[in-house]
Amino acid sequence: MQGSIFTAFSEMVIEKMGMEQWNELLEKTEPVSQGMYTSGEQYEDSELVNMVIALSEKTGVDAEKLIQAFGQYLFTSLYNNCPTDVSNIPNLREFLLSIHSVIHVEVKRLHPQAYLPNFEYEDGDGTDLIMYYCSKRKLCHASVGLIFGAAKHFNEEISIVHPECMHAGKDRCKLVVKFKG
Ligand code: HEM
Repeated sequence: MQGSIFTAFSEMVIEKMGMEQWNELLEKTEPVSQGMYTSGEQYEDSELVNMVIALSEKTGVDAEKLIQAFGQYLFTSLYNNCPTDVSNIPNLREFLLSIHSVIHVEVKRLHPQAYLPNFEYEDGDGTDLIMYYCSKRKLCHASVGLIFGAAKHFNEEISIVHPECMHAGKDRCKLVVKFKG
């Protein structure tokens, strides 16, 4: 996974828990990179997974919850470093619809070695937007956090229902984004 994801993760741990906790995580998980991440480089997914597991053991917070919280934190740093101009996207719905066909496409063009998840979209009941997420990484909880991060950015209130999940044996996750008001 790309270094930008790891640098955001280290920033989150240091900001919320302090430098000592970050150093403790590195000591415990002994990543090959030694925790020195550069945004455009690729690193082993297992480094992040091991740190999330260690953090979950330390704090007693579910790994899924930690990954979601990280997704929400990550949004701001991804948005601020977006390779395409997204400043004219007027609302959350348009933004979510552009992830797969615009944003991630541009990320892939700039970083051909990047592996990006697949999203398919469908209209749900009323104003609901259904996003089907599929990735070898099964980071659906990061997606949920990222979507909440985007909602905060657009100042829109949403809830997300996750009735089908790759972690429960489905081929893809179904995320139903419910727009309030
Ligand atoms: C709500 C908005 C977004 C969602 C739901 C989303 C979803 C995801 C997820 C779940 C991943 C983890 C990889 C995986 O699942 O296989 C990912 C990776 C990534 N996304 Fe997005 N994303 C969003 C916005 C953005 C934005 C604004 C950028 C702008 C730069 C971006 C760039 C990236 C990059 C660089 C990676 C890492 C690729 C790699 O590891 O090689 N994403 N995205």
